Parts: sequence; C-alpha cells; structure tokens
Amino acid sequence: GEANIGVVGLAVMGSNLARNLASREGNTVAVFNRSRSKTDELIEAHPEAEFVPAFTYEEFAASLQKPRTAIIMVKAGKPTDAVIDELMRVFEPGDIIIDGGNSLFTDTIRREKAVSEAGYNFVGMGVSGGEEGALNGPSLMPGGPDEAWVTLGPILKSIAAVAEGEPCVTHIGHDGAGHFVKMVHNGIEYADMQLIAEAYDLIRRGTGKTPAEIADVFEEWNRGELESYLIEITAEVLRQTDATTGKPLVDVIVDQAGAKGTGAWTVQTALDLGVPVSGIAEATFARSLSSHREQRDVAGELPGPSSEDFTVPDADAFIEQVRLALYASKIVAYSQGFDEIRAGAAQYGWNIDLGAVSKIWRGGCIIRAQFLNRIADAYDEQADLPVLLTAPYFVEALGRTQDAWREIVRVSAAAGIPAPAFSSSLAYYDGLRADRLPAALIQGQRDFFGAHTYKRIDKDGTFHTLWSADRTEVEAEDTH
Ligand code: 6PG
Repeated sequence: GEANIGVVGLAVMGSNLARNLASREGNTVAVFNRSRSKTDELIEAHPEAEFVPAFTYEEFAASLQKPRTAIIMVKAGKPTDAVIDELMRVFEPGDIIIDGGNSLFTDTIRREKAVSEAGYNFVGMGVSGGEEGALNGPSLMPGGPDEAWVTLGPILKSIAAVAEGEPCVTHIGHDGAGHFVKMVHNGIEYADMQLIAEAYDLIRRGTGKTPAEIADVFEEWNRGELESYLIEITAEVLRQTDATTGKPLVDVIVDQAGAKGTGAWTVQTALDLGVPVSGIAEATFARSLSSHREQRDVAGELPGPSSEDFTVPDADAFIEQVRLALYASKIVAYSQGFDEIRAGAAQYGWNIDLGAVSKIWRGGCIIRAQFLNRIADAYDEQADLPVLLTAPYFVEALGRTQDAWREIVRVSAAAGIPAPAFSSSLAYYDGLRADRLPAALIQGQRDFFGAHTYKRIDKDGTFHTLWSADRTEVEAEDTH
C-alpha cells in the first residue's frame, strides 16, 4: 500500500479531516465511505489532494502501508462497532484502528479490550473544533496504548491546531481516557454556552439593548479576560439579521436548545463518580427545560414577581457586573470539569496530566480561550491541586468578581429572570468555602429514619441516637 493513513466515513467531519491530513507534507490518505458517492465527490472536489480512494474494505486495507493506521469518522454507537468489525476483518494484528467520533468512553474501554485481545491497537480519540477545526486544525484527545501513540503522535501533531507554538494534541491516557476528556470538554462547552446565554438575556432585559448592540458588548468582552471562541461567535450570531423578516435572527430562531447527548453523559458520569458538576448539570437541564414547549405553554400562567419591570439604572455598570458574574461562573464550570477529569482518572486508572489537557484546549476546540493559560499555570505550579478554584490566580479573580456575581444572582432572582448557571455556580462556590454545612442535619435525619449513623466532630467512631427509645447515643457499626 502507498497510503500512510486512512479515513473511513466521509461525511463533513471525516472528509475535512482527510483533507487536513492530505494537506500535510508526507501524507498520502486512503479514503473510504460506505456509499461510493461521498468518496467520488471528495476526490472530484479536491484533485490537489493525495487521496487513494477505496471502494471496498479489502481495497482500503490493500492501499495502506503497514502497520495500517485508519481513523473512523462515523456516527458514535452501532455504526462505529460495525466499521471496527469490518476493519478487523481486513486488517492484521499490529494495525491501528482509531475512533475519532464522539463515543461514550465506556464504549471505548469495551472496544479497546475486544480489539486489543485480537492483537490490533485501538485508540479512542476525542476530536473537537467542528467542521472548521477538522479541516484547519482540531484539538485532538487520543487515548489508547503507548505503542499506538508512537506511530500516531507525529501524524496527529502535524494536523492539530497550534496554540502558542504547541500542537493541540497530547496522549491523554489509556483506553477511554481520550473520549472521557472529550466528554468533559463538551460538558464545559454546555456550561460556557449557557452562561453566555444568561448574560445576553440579562443584558437584553435589563438594558433594552438590541441584539446588535449586545453584539458590540460581546465583541468588547472578547478583547479582555473573557476572550474565547464562544464569545466571538456569540457576537456574530447576535449581529445576524434574518433575510426574510428583517428581524434579528436570534428572535426568529425557536428557543428550544438541542443536544446530542455528550452534556448528559458528562453529568451522568459525574453523578456516578460523586463529583458535583452543578454548573454543567444546570446548563444541560436548561436545554431540557427549553425543549418542553408543552410544559412551558401551561406554565406561562404561573405567578411572577410583583413588578415585572426590570430596567437597570446604569446600563454600563450593570453590563460590567454581568461580565464579572460570567467570569466567576466560568471559573467554577472549568474547576468542576477538571474535578471530574481528576476523579475519572483516579477511578479508571488513567495518568492524566491536567495541565496538558488545559494546553491542548487553547486552540482548535470549541471552548478555546485565553483563560486556559491560567489553568495551565495553576497546574504547572501545583500538579495535584485538589480544587482548581483555589489556585492563587483564581482566588484573586473570585475576590474581585464575587460582589458583582452575588448582585447579578440577586437581581435576576428578584426580576424573575432565570439564571440557573450563574446561581448554581455561586451556590457551589459558597458551599465549597463554607466552614460548616447543613449536611450535619441531613446526617441527623438519616440516622433518625434509617439508623444510618453519623460521625462526631469531637471523637472517633460511629454513632447512632436511639430516636424511638430514650434518645441516648450508642456506638454503632458504620453503615454510611
Ligand atoms: C466539538 C463539539 C462537537 C459537537 C457537539 C455539539 O467539540 O467540536 O463539541 O463535538 O458540535 O457534540 O453538541 P450538542 O449537539 O450536544 O450541542
């Protein structure tokens, strides 16, 4: 075979990744798609690219140098399993099969086990950056065995985005580590997007500014500490006018947010790991709430605050408070996301370098932002930081943002404007820093109705109060 890398699945993401690969010095790219037309279209549209088209799995295998290396870019789930089976049929032990889809990390763990038992290498790889990123430089999050990384590393480095001179790819860890990290990336993406949406809503309703005027606000924010891809595209979306009606496009789009499931996975996994990713969870639930049009229709009757009039006296001062609240909440969302990665790594035995993860998210991916440098610095200073929030930079940032943050949560509650991500992030922050939590009362309640026992602050051991008898305290077996 003459190709050094192959791509299976030539929908937009796959063909863009294939074009990206082909555009790099030294690459010849074998391409295959289940239906022939996609392959023909790609070859026809890009005569300049070094593609080797294949129309059967046998041809695809024959066109690849050994060890064969192929990236699967098909829908996550059953289609991915089907392609893996076909590749194992035509490949040989030692070859490398990479899944570049948004697969659930537990599927990746299962697949790696099955594929490696048959003697092949399997790499589950998170790919972020959408269509544009796939073409010009994505952020890549490969898992899988070390041997595969040796072959794959240089190829991936050549196609990844570059941030501050470094390619946005690193070997995340074994088996499902890459897809786990991609999953959390998406959870953070949900939180970032929801926070931006809440900021927009508050500014619009508090100041009466038009979407185009709010686009200017986001453009300005994008020149400061909030600089990020999502803030940048928010300005673009808000500035867009609908051609049919002449209205701002955002006013014509149905207000029900879709979701393909990666945000929900992040939350489900966090629940299993016992990690409070409340900002991400609220962002995910906010999308669900928006989609329940039938409930929203009947709930429109529910009473709101006595005065629905919400106009802020000083628009510029209010906008600045919203900016600070957004920044503080964003810090919480990232801290929670990194907490989930830390807990996942401990649970699944991955050695994940959190600083390296923050660095490969600086370019190419949807959550790319200046801010990730601050996270990288925090882990550079202390690799085993238990909570990102407590890094000196973030302590300083929270110190100067928290008053505004509290004010925004207060006024949004008073005005009846939902700000679930702002307010849940603040509750998390205050919960984490609290010296005593009412969890003590919950332990008392649990002991009352279920003899679940409690610990005491002043001596070792496990205790139970004889609630239904004379209410004396006895030492007990620890039943949690
Ligand atoms: C990325 C994106 C990408 C995709 C999301 C969208 O990193 O490039 O996260 O993976 O656009 O899955 O997710 P929803 O459809 O769930 O919003």
